[in-house]
Amino acid sequence: MHSNRNILITGAAGFIGSHVLRLMVLKYPNCHFFNLDVLTYAGNLENIKDIESAMNYTFIKGDICDAVLVMSIFNDYKIDGVIHLAAESHVDRSIKDPLAFIQTNVLGTVNLLNAAKESWQKKYEGKLFYHVSTDEVYGSLGNWFV
Ligand SMILES: NC(=O)c1ccc[n+]([C@@H]2O[C@H](COP(=O)([O-])OP(=O)(O)OC[C@H]3O[C@@H](n4cnc5c(N)ncnc54)[C@H](O)[C@@H]3O)[C@@H](O)[C@H]2O)c1
Repeated sequence: MHSNRNILITGAAGFIGSHVLRLMVLKYPNCHFFNLDVLTYAGNLENIKDIESAMNYTFIKGDICDAVLVMSIFNDYKIDGVIHLAAESHVDRSIKDPLAFIQTNVLGTVNLLNAAKESWQKKYEGKLFYHVSTDEVYGSLGNWFV
């Protein structure tokens, strides 16, 4: 990764995000990592306690559904890249509370994409947006290993 990048990682208090964040913070000391997480029942800052005071890390408690907040993060911190993991991830819960899934997984994702598009102004050189999701979204891999 190029140095001096500002990277927004969403949902990095969760299961996968906490491991991704730790790896990135330790491996790329010249980049700054912003963790945007609203801390639902699935998010726990204990998961990343060991890196909480790293110089290249900032925690922002907030909701990806808050378009104004998301845009202000892009503007204030000159975000160059996004690793988007914030999600309602436990499929069984979607039966009881489908709205929370639509809000975070769909509207929240669109907010992030819009902010990136707005902020990067079609100058996409060196900018990256990774959306980590699931086979329910991307489909199954098929027989890749045969
Ligand atoms: N865990 C797995 O085995 C697995 C497998 C395949 C795909 N995935 C996908 O990877 C992604 C991350 O999964 P995970 O297991 O780390 O999830 P997780 O439920 O452990 O963590 C999700 C994180 O997102 C945060 N969050 C939820 N809604 C938010 C919102 N509106 N704004 C900001 N933060 C919010 C939560 O507080 C939590 O910290 C999901 O898209 C999931 O579908 C996970």
